[in-house]
Amino acid sequence: MTSTAMTGHATTAEGSRSRFANDVRDFLTQHPRQLPSRYLYDDLGSALFEAICRLPWYPLTRAELRLLKSHGREILDAGVTTLIELGSGSGVKLSALIAAAGTGRRHLDLHLVDVSKGALTQASRALEGLEDVRIETHEGTYEDGLAGFRLARHVAGRRLALFLGSNIGNFDPPGREAFLGSVRQALNPGDDLLLGADLLKPERELLLAYDDPLGVTAAFNRNLLARINRELEGNFELDGFAHRALWNEARSRIEMHLRSLRRQRIQIREADLDFVMAEGEMIWTESSYKYDPAQVVSMLERSSFRVRAQWIDTADRFALTLAEAI
Ligand code: AVJ
Repeated sequence: MTSTAMTGHATTAEGSRSRFANDVRDFLTQHPRQLPSRYLYDDLGSALFEAICRLPWYPLTRAELRLLKSHGREILDAGVTTLIELGSGSGVKLSALIAAAGTGRRHLDLHLVDVSKGALTQASRALEGLEDVRIETHEGTYEDGLAGFRLARHVAGRRLALFLGSNIGNFDPPGREAFLGSVRQALNPGDDLLLGADLLKPERELLLAYDDPLGVTAAFNRNLLARINRELEGNFELDGFAHRALWNEARSRIEMHLRSLRRQRIQIREADLDFVMAEGEMIWTESSYKYDPAQVVSMLERSSFRVRAQWIDTADRFALTLAEAI
């Protein structure tokens, strides 16, 4: 395993801590108060998310894995030499895809981009056993990863970018369009993007997926406050906040919030913050948009991709869409 200059600038401990502090200050002082969802994924948050993926009420990961296994050969066709996964997590999906592609493939360069060092370590381990692959890990944001990938555009062979797990669902529509545009800019015509997207389903199923009876999602959400306490000298009392999942029908998204259970004073020394939260006031920590399949096709087409195939898991309503950069 190697590491490249691609991650160098953004991830010095000091740099990423001051970026975190700035974001916490900017977002917590907005109306409504909010926090960017990418900060859910410190090492503990990533481990809690992996636990969520095993919950019977959160079917997304299993549905996507089934699709990757059944269509691996079509997805990873013979011309592909380089894969980049944005938000690679445990590496389990990438490894299943490569295994499903079978024997006779070419040597593959794998680039894993994730904000969690723990997840990258785990993913390299999951992929190490594969033959004929070279693994590079990049600790950083999607933007950091794409910047490096754009620089390497001249390498020979076709490239496949993977954006799985319905991570796209965290973006609001303008952010999503900007993101897909920057993915497209990092690719050459003829390269592919594989996009995983969770589909609309009955509200009660969605609410169970984001507010599970074991409280793992609640722990995942509240860990964001614990992380602020640990890294930015915050004073959040975790028992003063409850996890809330809401279905926003008009926007077609699940929202996660942290609801203040009492009037309380919040101080976060490293972010220079000191404010009072009213009882019932919420901090909005995540949106997960849900789509219909045609909407996924049209968002890709608007960003200069041509859809080559779309596979749908009908049991759990999840779509994998393979699109070519044009
Ligand atoms: C990893 C962003 C796709 O939105 O479903 C799981 C994160 N949040 N449970 C999602 C998440 C609450 C997940 N994504």
